[in-house]
Amino acid sequence: MEQSRGSWGSNIGFLLAAIGSAVGLGNIWGFPYKMGKSGGFTFLIIYFLLAVFVGFIIMIAELAMGRKTGKGTIGAYHTLSRKFRWIGWLAVFSPFIIMSFYSVLGAYCIEYMSLNLSNLAFAGAEIKTGADLFGSMLTNPFGAVAFTVLFMVICYLINRSGVSGGIEKFNKIGMPALFVMLVIIIIRSLTLPGASEGLKFMFVPGYAVKAGFISEAPGFLTVLATAGGQMFFSLSLAMGAMITYGSYLSKQENLVKNSGIIVVADTIVATMAGLAVIPAAVANGIAQINGGATVMDAATGLERAMTFADIQLGGPSLLFVTLQDVFQAMGPIGPLFGVIFYLLVLIAAISSAISLIEVVVTYFMDRAAEKGRQGNRPRIVLWVCLAIMVEAFLVAMDGLGSNGIAPYNLLGMENNINGWNDCWLDFMDMMSEGIAMPLGALLMSLMVGWEIKPRTLLDEIHQGSRLRIDGFFSFCIRFIAPLGMVMILLGQIDTFFRLGIF
Ligand code: PHE
Repeated sequence: MEQSRGSWGSNIGFLLAAIGSAVGLGNIWGFPYKMGKSGGFTFLIIYFLLAVFVGFIIMIAELAMGRKTGKGTIGAYHTLSRKFRWIGWLAVFSPFIIMSFYSVLGAYCIEYMSLNLSNLAFAGAEIKTGADLFGSMLTNPFGAVAFTVLFMVICYLINRSGVSGGIEKFNKIGMPALFVMLVIIIIRSLTLPGASEGLKFMFVPGYAVKAGFISEAPGFLTVLATAGGQMFFSLSLAMGAMITYGSYLSKQENLVKNSGIIVVADTIVATMAGLAVIPAAVANGIAQINGGATVMDAATGLERAMTFADIQLGGPSLLFVTLQDVFQAMGPIGPLFGVIFYLLVLIAAISSAISLIEVVVTYFMDRAAEKGRQGNRPRIVLWVCLAIMVEAFLVAMDGLGSNGIAPYNLLGMENNINGWNDCWLDFMDMMSEGIAMPLGALLMSLMVGWEIKPRTLLDEIHQGSRLRIDGFFSFCIRFIAPLGMVMILLGQIDTFFRLGIF
C-alpha cells in the first residue's frame, strides 16, 4: 500500500516543493506592503518572533502528523484524535476556498505577462497606464474566466502527474528560476533614482509616518494580528498542505532541519520580494511627484498635487497598477522586466496552487485506498479542478467587485470597503484565511498540546533527527501557539468585519 501511494524522489525535491508551496502571492504581494503599513521594522521583528515560536513549531507538527500517519489531512486527524478529528475537514475546506481566488490572481498574472510580451513585440504602439489596464481587465469578466481556465489547466497537468512526477519536477525547475528572476528585478529596482526612500520605508522604524506615506502607525495588537495572519498564510500552515506533503516524506529525513529550512527560505524570499517591489514603487511615485503629477482628492473631489500618501503600496493595485506603471516608465526595455516579473509571480502562484489542490486530491486518493481500491489520480485531479473552477468563476466574473455582483450588491447591504462583503475575493478570503485557518491552527495546537500530547509527535520527530527540541516544542505548542492563535483570530475577525476592537 505504502508503495502505491507514491513519495518524494529526494529530500531536496521535497524541500523545493515545500518552499514552493510557502513562497507564493503572500510573499510577493502581502508581505512587502503589510510590512510598510505596519511600521517596517516593528513588523519584521514581530514576524520573526512569531515565525520561530509559532510557525516553525506548527510546521514541524504538521509534517510529523502527515509522516506518522502516512495520510493526508483528514486521514491524519482521524487517526490521531478522537475529540478533534473533525478539524481535518476544516483543513480541506480552506485550501479549496483559497483556490477560488488564488486561481484568478494567477490568471491576472498570465494576462499581465502576455500584455508585457506584446508591448515588447510591438514597441511604439500606444501603451495604456496601469490603472486603465487594470480597470479594463476587471470589467472584462470573460477574459478573466478564460485566463483562469488556462491557469487551472496548467495546475491540472502538473497535479495529474503525481507527487514526484509532477509537483516535484515543476518545483525543481521553477524555484531556482524564480530566485534568479527575483534577483534581476531587485537589482533593477534598487538602481532606480529614489529607491533609497523605499528602503527607508521598509527598514527605518517610524519612517513611513514621518515621510507621509501613512498618517499614523497601527497599534501593537493590530501589528501582531497582521504579522501573525501573514505568517500563517505565507508558511502554508493550517491548510493541510504541510500535513499532505509530510505524508509523502521518508522516515529517514530530518523534520526539524527541514522545517527550519522552509521557514528561513520563505522569510528570505518575502524580504527579497519587498526589496524588488517597494523601492521600485516608491521611486516611480517620487518621479511622478517631481514631474508635477496631480490626483483627484477623494474627499473634496478637486484636483490637487500628488503626495507620498498617494503612492499605492497596498492591495491588488500594488501588483497590477503601480508596478505596471513602473515597467512602462522604464522605456523600451521596461516590458522585458514586466515579463520577467509577472512570470516570477506566476511561478510562485502555480507552485502554491498545486499544493492546495494536492490537499484535496490526496484526501480522495487516500479514501480510495481505504476502500482497497487504487485511486485514479488523473480523474480525481480533473474533478477537483472542475469544482474549483465553479467557485473561481464567481470570483473571476466579479472582477474585485467591479461588475455589480459583489456580496453587498446581492445582499442589498452597504459596502464595507475592504471588508468581507466588498467583493467575492474578500468574502472567500474572510472564510478561509480569516476564520478557518486561524481556528484550525488553534484547535490543532490544542489537540497536539493537550489531547494526544506532544510526546506522540516527538516520537515521530526523533526519527531522522538527533537534534532534541522536546522541551521547546512542548512548551510552544501548549502555551505560545494557542495564545498567538487567539490573538490572530481576533485580529482577523476585527479586520474582516471592521469591528475596531484593536
Ligand atoms: N503560502 C502561500 C502564499 O504565500 C499560500 C498558501 C497557503 C499555499 C496555504 C498553500 C497553503 O501565497
